[in-house]
Amino acid sequence: MSSSTLRNNTEMEAPMTRSAAAFLREQRVVPGGSMRHASWFPPHPPYAARGEGCWIVDLDNRRILDCANNFFSLVHGHAFPPIVAALTDAIANGTAFGLPMEGEIALAEALAARNPRLAQTRFCNSGTEAVMAAIKGARGTTGRHRIAKFEGCYHGSYDHAEVSLESKPEEWDDAAGNPASIAYAKGTPPAVLADTVVLPYADADRCAAILKREGPTLAAIILDPQASKAGMVPMPAEVIAAVKEACRRDGILLIVDEVVNFRLGLGGISPLFGLEPDFVTLGKIIGGGLPVGAVSGPAERMAVFNHAQGKPKVALGGTFSANPLTMAAGLASLTHYDEAAVARLNALGEALRQRVNQGMEAAGLPCRMAGAGSLFRLHLGARKVADYRSARPLPAETEALPRIHAAVLEAGILLTPNCSGALSTPMGEAQVAQIADALIQAVTAEVRA
Ligand SMILES: Cc1ncc(COP(=O)(O)O)c(C=O)c1O
Repeated sequence: MSSSTLRNNTEMEAPMTRSAAAFLREQRVVPGGSMRHASWFPPHPPYAARGEGCWIVDLDNRRILDCANNFFSLVHGHAFPPIVAALTDAIANGTAFGLPMEGEIALAEALAARNPRLAQTRFCNSGTEAVMAAIKGARGTTGRHRIAKFEGCYHGSYDHAEVSLESKPEEWDDAAGNPASIAYAKGTPPAVLADTVVLPYADADRCAAILKREGPTLAAIILDPQASKAGMVPMPAEVIAAVKEACRRDGILLIVDEVVNFRLGLGGISPLFGLEPDFVTLGKIIGGGLPVGAVSGPAERMAVFNHAQGKPKVALGGTFSANPLTMAAGLASLTHYDEAAVARLNALGEALRQRVNQGMEAAGLPCRMAGAGSLFRLHLGARKVADYRSARPLPAETEALPRIHAAVLEAGILLTPNCSGALSTPMGEAQVAQIADALIQAVTAEVRA
């Protein structure tokens, strides 16, 4: 090899970014070089160095508008001053105690004040744990062990909640034409599948028929009425009516998973859909950016966890449950996410969807943005999205989405890998315009390529 070739190669090679170097380093000690499947995308994500408001600054000093907001858990963006102040105060007093603290009362009271259906609460450390606790609570109350969930809907990584999370077209229906119970993780015990009934998100008649047959054996039905994996479109009122009817008729408890969608209304999403859950599962924004989960409900339901008279029907606790840092950050987060803030952020989300959808339509792009309030998700293709099956990207869309995600990131905006996002209170109209323009440009480039 001549020295001139060597020189040319060296000149052509871009210096390795600090994020690329971090990824190389992480691959040696972490499987896949990333702690979370959901936040990884090829060749590797930028590594965050710090955050300020709605911005992330990465290791290479790039400012990125953050619409992922740690999978929608940050409603005030990063380093929100009231949360920083609350945490600074709390941390000086110690981080974990084997005793109760007043902070846990204050956060539980704040939830109850927003929605009387959240009269009592038990905190844990993740939404997954909250869903597991609610399911166990329903089992302990009813003495039954089976549950029903909606096809494709994500409720964390508890075995039963994961059933049919990502079933493929060739395995969608069972012999009777109903959604099949399909394992998500390899090695899922067959009993988990037998004990988890899968319901269709947008077919009220089929849903009612399945519940008529299975209802008497069910402890709980868990649902999220605006589920991201079902396209972030609302569950039809007729399906909700079928669920309510089955619960009334067969004594099934209703769990509404508000881990993501609590941010859509001051009292969460249940009141917006006329739902009166027995248990509500919470997480994300109620922890102000720290690990959190919670199961809430009316006192007579939450009694299943009551240990005051000896061993409860269902024991619920954990070493770091209701830790003082999470309680302090969560209270600051909710205090500043009051009725006006909720309304402002929801309106901003509506403006974003309008701007994107009008822009896509004007440009003749077969693409639309779904969502509600401050949450949004991009759908490629012109078909109507009504449920998990219609929301599931077609093979060509599965290939296009990462390119659109990458182009939007190149324009300085972080979405989740499936091109969904959440707005945060530091954002305003300028950010809405930036997101809309970047998305329209990215989809235009993809379609014209
Ligand atoms: C609707 C829903 N439920 C539960 C969970 C699980 O929450 P966590 O990631 O805190 O375990 C999530 C997480 O994204 C979620 O979206």
